Amino acid sequence: MRNTSDQKQRSPRRSGRNGVRVAAVAAAAAVTLAACSSGSTPTSTSPKQPTGSATSASITWSASPIAQVGIRAALIKAFEAAYPKIHVTLISAPTNTDTNRAQLVTQISGGSTSPDVFMGDVIWPAEFGAHGLAVPLSNYLPSSYWSKFAPGLVSGASYNGKVYGSPLFEDQGFLYYRKDLLAKAHLPVPKTWEQLKSESETLQKDGLVKYGFVWEGNSYEGLTCDFMEYLTSAGGKVVNSSYTKAEIDSPAALRALTFMRSLITSGVSPSAVTTFEEPQAMSVFDAGQAAFLRNWDYAWSNSQTPSDSKVVGKVGVAPLPTFAGQSYPGYSNIGGWNLYINPHSTHLAADLTFVKWMSSTTAQMILGKTYSEIPTVESVRKALAADPSAAPPIHVAAQTRLVPRPAGTPNYPKVSSAIYTNVNAALSGSTSPSAALAAAQSGINTALSGGL
Ligand code: GLC
Repeated sequence: MRNTSDQKQRSPRRSGRNGVRVAAVAAAAAVTLAACSSGSTPTSTSPKQPTGSATSASITWSASPIAQVGIRAALIKAFEAAYPKIHVTLISAPTNTDTNRAQLVTQISGGSTSPDVFMGDVIWPAEFGAHGLAVPLSNYLPSSYWSKFAPGLVSGASYNGKVYGSPLFEDQGFLYYRKDLLAKAHLPVPKTWEQLKSESETLQKDGLVKYGFVWEGNSYEGLTCDFMEYLTSAGGKVVNSSYTKAEIDSPAALRALTFMRSLITSGVSPSAVTTFEEPQAMSVFDAGQAAFLRNWDYAWSNSQTPSDSKVVGKVGVAPLPTFAGQSYPGYSNIGGWNLYINPHSTHLAADLTFVKWMSSTTAQMILGKTYSEIPTVESVRKALAADPSAAPPIHVAAQTRLVPRPAGTPNYPKVSSAIYTNVNAALSGSTSPSAALAAAQSGINTALSGGL
């Protein structure tokens, strides 16, 4: 995720429903400021031709299914209705963001002209920008184009003063809970992680549900997202503000990781959670086997799709909990996906037409209204927020506190893998939380020595 510079929008961040502005912690501010320095929104751009006005072409679009396979086909259909002479062929990309990225890096660095356009994670701009793996879109699209996006998204999609990704949709972490089970046991929606754990134990002891809490614990990017949430809520951070030093080996991180491990040792989370990615966590919850789920906004639409879910009508959504003694709510990681163009594409004008159309109200409404993704275009976001029938995550997003991942460095993949491999080892019990954090600290320092 672009995360890097979601600063402007998030730190200090949006007003809650009660109108009180929620201040972001210093940790998040530090990381985002650093990101800002490497990824600020370009101020003076003289767009080159073509500006995205192709009339006919056939292009390929690589995109992962994310939550529901139907999203991509629905978008292509609506685009082709608006531009009947531009044909888009979908290339289905892997759901795992790391595998997706590795494939694209191999293809594009090998000079492949396909895909023309790719849906890529918000954490990719620094790496793809630094290595010439994506077209600097701000060379072609004027500042009037970029100004329609919600604050912070464009700077998060930038690296060294150029915008590489056109924001498509935003993801945030949410707490999904079983309304019916909490009501039966007369329990409130948990506001702290400790409360979530003890409520889970009660519900399990009473035989109301098999597992308390499911989340993403596999050794992959999604675990970095989950860990960032506990870490930031405990008051910790990953790197210093200038991206020169790891700061993950801290008492706050130890609190976060020790708690995560205790979810497994207590039986609140199944031990298989150390192999779960988003789809596995969602499917256990949607099968009615867990009281709580941590997942992104789109998990709402899955949980309310009768063919996928046994818990239709029984699910509530809240901001993530915090740790006892820290302010509520806890932090949600910023995820989401942008559109990028392959520098070897031979259809630049058509690519730009497609990319631009994805920020139209039609496209953004398909994403937001039908699939509970958070729109990136400010006017659409506001329209949905004012619509009581919009999916609950869209409304709860007004209360969340966001933390980006430290992706302002092209070496972010190595930073993240130092986090998730070591956190996963501690979760599965093959190493202690303190040894895992020491190893993560050293791995991150090695990754950072590669420079910004
Ligand atoms: C979601 C997020 C993305 C993140 C990924 C991790 O797809 O949008 O930013 O990297 O999950 O699994």
